Amino acid sequence: MRSDPDNIGGAVIRCAGLTVLGTIARRVSCRAYQTRPVPQEQVMQILEAARLAPSACNQQPWRFAIVRDPELRRRIVGEGFLPGITMNWAIDAPVHVVIGMERSLVTHRLAASVSGVDYPWVDIGIAGEHLVLAATELGLGTCWIGWIRPKTVGRIVNWPRSIKPAVIITVGYPDDSVVGPPPASRRKPLTDLLKWL
Ligand SMILES: Cc1cc2nc3c(=O)[nH]c(=O)nc-3n(C[C@H](O)[C@H](O)[C@H](O)COP(=O)(O)O)c2cc1C
Repeated sequence: MRSDPDNIGGAVIRCAGLTVLGTIARRVSCRAYQTRPVPQEQVMQILEAARLAPSACNQQPWRFAIVRDPELRRRIVGEGFLPGITMNWAIDAPVHVVIGMERSLVTHRLAASVSGVDYPWVDIGIAGEHLVLAATELGLGTCWIGWIRPKTVGRIVNWPRSIKPAVIITVGYPDDSVVGPPPASRRKPLTDLLKWL
């Protein structure tokens, strides 16, 4: 049992008093950022939230590259994003978290070949959303970016070939003067999604 729920594994997670459901409801993709930096403590808090995510066989396939250097962020946007969607707004986000996947040879490959389920992708999704929800709770904006060139991004962050970039999450303070109040997220109604048995 944990004696201090606010201090898990080194980085401190402070509760801002929001419920999980409230944080989930408040989260929207942020595509306009203030350029002011995010304090290191907050960056560590959201990374700690990602680190605590569950994963298949506890393999923890996620790796994180924290890109704050403006020139590297410019290169990620200019070279690492695929064409077709204008995402220049991402240059302003003071932090790009590149989430990479390091597959464990035995468990991830073997288990996936038996079940057909690609567990590391599931794991990465959970860790990424932990990070996003923690950021939301801290008042930070985020946006998942999957429209990337993984090899190019891997070269920019200087990862070995064993780590494959999967997604990038932009993090920063929302520029509310540009975006205004967040639009209600459009979602399919539950009735279209459920099958009760
Ligand atoms: C795996 C994943 C990849 C995404 N890739 C992009 C992207 O490349 N560019 C972008 O602007 N938004 C991207 N998004 C954000 C989605 O467009 C967004 O979550 C969706 O439209 C719902 O809007 P909301 O996040 O505001 O609720 C991505 C989201 C996910 C989960």
